[in-house]
Amino acid sequence: MAQHCPLTSLMSLAMLLNAAFCANFSDFFQPLWAPDHIATEGDHINLSLDTVSGNVWFSYNLDDFYLYLFGKASMQIKLVEGDSAGTVTAFYMSSEGPNRDELDFEYLGNVSGEPYLVQTNVYVNGSGNREQRHSLWFDPTLDFHTYSLFWNRRYIVFLVNGIPIRVFANKEENGGIYPKSQAMSIRGSMWNADDWATQGGRVKTNWSHSPFVATFRSFEIDACELSPETDDVEAECAVSRHFWWDKPSVRELNRHQSHQLKWVRRKHMVYDYCKDVARFTELPRECIN
Ligand SMILES: *[C@@H]1O[C@H](CO)[C@@H](O)[C@H](O)[C@H]1NC(C)=O
Ligand SMILES: *[C@@H]1O[C@H](CO)[C@@H](O)[C@H](O)[C@H]1NC(C)=O
Ligand SMILES: *[C@@H]1O[C@H](CO)[C@@H](O)[C@H](O)[C@H]1NC(C)=O
Ligand SMILES: *[C@@H]1O[C@H](CO)[C@@H](O)[C@H](O)[C@H]1NC(C)=O
Ligand SMILES: *[C@@H]1O[C@H](CO)[C@@H](O)[C@H](O)[C@H]1NC(C)=O
Repeated sequence: MAQHCPLTSLMSLAMLLNAAFCANFSDFFQPLWAPDHIATEGDHINLSLDTVSGNVWFSYNLDDFYLYLFGKASMQIKLVEGDSAGTVTAFYMSSEGPNRDELDFEYLGNVSGEPYLVQTNVYVNGSGNREQRHSLWFDPTLDFHTYSLFWNRRYIVFLVNGIPIRVFANKEENGGIYPKSQAMSIRGSMWNADDWATQGGRVKTNWSHSPFVATFRSFEIDACELSPETDDVEAECAVSRHFWWDKPSVRELNRHQSHQLKWVRRKHMVYDYCKDVARFTELPRECIN
């Protein structure tokens, strides 16, 4: 599928074609909460957190919700520089309501010079607790890096600069949970989480360093787009429509990607809920091979 970028003036055409495009942020994303802590200009958006408020934005404009099921969404993000302890910045997809499905990238800040951690999570029908945490092989505050969600019926892949850091496989046949029946919007946010985020909650946010600012830019999406009125979202995004993310060539990670994932798991994974036998009396079903 051809990539059109930027294509905001032809947005409705892009929607019809389900084509990839880079949005002008303000044409595609709107504040959901605390607009005065969200600054948009051209293809970037700055989120700020201070003692007054954090913020949330989502893919919505002029009464149009931009909702998706399956495909790929990417964002370039430059995280809070210097002392970011206590802060969490997030790039995620979520449906509405208590029984929501959600796919999360959460960036856990740290004191100056100490490393961020990336926490990923999956919610299905309102249940989460599927965290993994990774350190990164670069400093995510010095420059923009690309964080992507790839998602089809078989698996969800979390990627950092194109490198898979996590695969969440569809293990429904084992009784595992899997998000595949709720359309989600694209979202971002920033909040104070100093009760848990940094070094297990030991390090608190130092507000004398606020406002804390993170920048998001160059959003790209190539996914099955849905309207809020669609009843049967699974049928609308069915395999029979021959989307690229259902092709045999992407049915599993290729050899190169599998090696990359192994390397990340060996060198950078610091927490995996599937290994946390102290937390779960019985491990979630999708953890069992
Ligand atoms: C993006 O929006 C700004 C106004 O917010 C406008 O000046 C600019 O031309 C738009 N860019 C594109 C590529 O549509
Ligand atoms: C976002 O932050 C960057 C870096 O501080 C700055 O150059 C840019 O002007 C800001 N954009 C907006 C819309 O405030
Ligand atoms: C989702 O959770 C609710 C309870 O919160 C339950 O009643 C419902 O059956 C669940 N739906 C599915 C598809 O599992
Ligand atoms: C912060 O730095 C400490 C010390 O290097 C490290 O143990 C921790 O994993 C880092 N990240 C977070 C989010 O606490
Ligand atoms: C917070 O930051 C200020 C300014 O850098 C510093 O003087 C102060 O010691 C810091 N507070 C704590 C509790 O670390």
